[in-house]
Amino acid sequence: MSKNAKALADQIRGIAGDAPVQIGLILGSGLGHIADTVDGVAIPYGDLPGFPHAGVSGHNPNLVIGDLEGVRVAVFGGRAHYYENGKADAMRLPLEVLRELGADRVIATNAAGSMQADMPTGSIMCLSDHINFSGLNPLIGEPTDARFVPMKDAYDPEIRAALRKAADTADVEMADGIYAWYSGPSFETPAEIRAIKLLGADAVGMSTVPEVILARFLGLKAAAISTITNMAAGMSDENISHEHTKAMAPIGAAKLEKVLRGYLKAQA
Ligand code: HPA
Repeated sequence: MSKNAKALADQIRGIAGDAPVQIGLILGSGLGHIADTVDGVAIPYGDLPGFPHAGVSGHNPNLVIGDLEGVRVAVFGGRAHYYENGKADAMRLPLEVLRELGADRVIATNAAGSMQADMPTGSIMCLSDHINFSGLNPLIGEPTDARFVPMKDAYDPEIRAALRKAADTADVEMADGIYAWYSGPSFETPAEIRAIKLLGADAVGMSTVPEVILARFLGLKAAAISTITNMAAGMSDENISHEHTKAMAPIGAAKLEKVLRGYLKAQA
């Protein structure tokens, strides 16, 4: 654990109180408003030295610590993406801080394009696994043997089962599927989408995979849910753009929010 993370955790406890955080949530496009419903304190990333600037429109760069459905959470309102600055490990410090604050798990959310006709825009998908199509890795340069992180069951089976139960209880349809990380920021070509579909991916996006690798490296359990904002390139005539992602994200986000809240309530 870096000295930096310990110092930041002390700073955060000084603002938000000493009670240990249980769960970290990383919010993707369309989900930022969940942070506003946490009963707690919002700390702008800019006040936390070393935190990423997360300058993507549709993201809300605050760390919010407080109570959500009876669970003490740390909500990352925005994330840093590899495509912003070429750093695959940009979320390392925030995740180190999360662990230092006491959390044992992190749930990431994201917007993604679908490669499955029966998972249309507005669906949500619980990640069962991923394909790191980018070839990048946030642990390149890590000098210790801890860098050899096993990635079987990286998406924690127990958390996934609990998320499934929460979805069933809320009567929300949630697919299970494999997410391919494509670096972005340009969207994929139809040929790239055909290739990753052939390799076994169900959805594609520009985030989450480096965070899950880092979480496992740090000993945090991980899970992730996508909101499908479009059919991937070449899968339909649907327009693909960041504007479209932001416009469509709220449809799946409303479902995802029900699942997350149900999950948290069951953990409280
Ligand atoms: N590709 C990559 N990232 C995305 C997409 C997509 O089609 N939709 C939302 N994020």
